[in-house]
Amino acid sequence: MLSNLSRLASNVVRSNLRTLTTTQKLNHDALFVHRDTKDDNLDVKFEFTAENKKRAEAIVSIYPVGHERAALLPLLDLAQRQHGWLPISAMHHVADFLNLPKMRVYEVATFYTMYIRKPIGKYHLQLCTTTPCWLRNSDAILEVIKKKCNIEVGETSEDGLFTLSEVECLGACVNAPMIQINDDYYEDLEAKDMEQILDDLKAGKKPAPGPRNGRFASEPINGLTSLTTQPNKPGYKCRPDL
Ligand code: FES
Repeated sequence: MLSNLSRLASNVVRSNLRTLTTTQKLNHDALFVHRDTKDDNLDVKFEFTAENKKRAEAIVSIYPVGHERAALLPLLDLAQRQHGWLPISAMHHVADFLNLPKMRVYEVATFYTMYIRKPIGKYHLQLCTTTPCWLRNSDAILEVIKKKCNIEVGETSEDGLFTLSEVECLGACVNAPMIQINDDYYEDLEAKDMEQILDDLKAGKKPAPGPRNGRFASEPINGLTSLTTQPNKPGYKCRPDL
């Protein structure tokens, strides 16, 4: 009798159990919350320069009256370009500029990984390691950077020149593997190309962006395989009988 009761009790408990699921651990190298640091706190002064203030006003004027908040993304970008990265005081300045609650700005600035919320090096090396780039050996490019700059992902080199980030697809898979350095794409990379690019940057030279394997853009490397003849002139009939 007692054992029947305890079995019944354990069945009741089991039927009331619900599966507990958690989201997958995020392996991003940036914190999603703000922590005060010596470089990033409310005492750090930020306001747009006179020139950038004019730019900001021009950007806001593009949007219809009552929808100025739509300028939030470009204004955060402008603040980041001015400061080199995006401190919390810059977020507050943009919030005041657009008359927005600060929380609305935090939500956006922490969602998009293009907003950099900690000091970075002069050159931000954003290496794509998503599948198409990885299949074409982005690992080798990563190794070159780690070795030559003596940094791991998320770190800045001692000379303050390079910060390394691993990023998801940057939309140039046809030129994989590729890396974005500040505003430029360097594509069709091999390890030796990455070494050359880093050497040039260290020497203060700006390497030419784009593909490194002789392609102009994303055309086939061995010449055209389709659309090899001139297009027909206007008025051409593919079915003269019709
Ligand atoms: S996977 Fe690297 S650019 Fe798309």
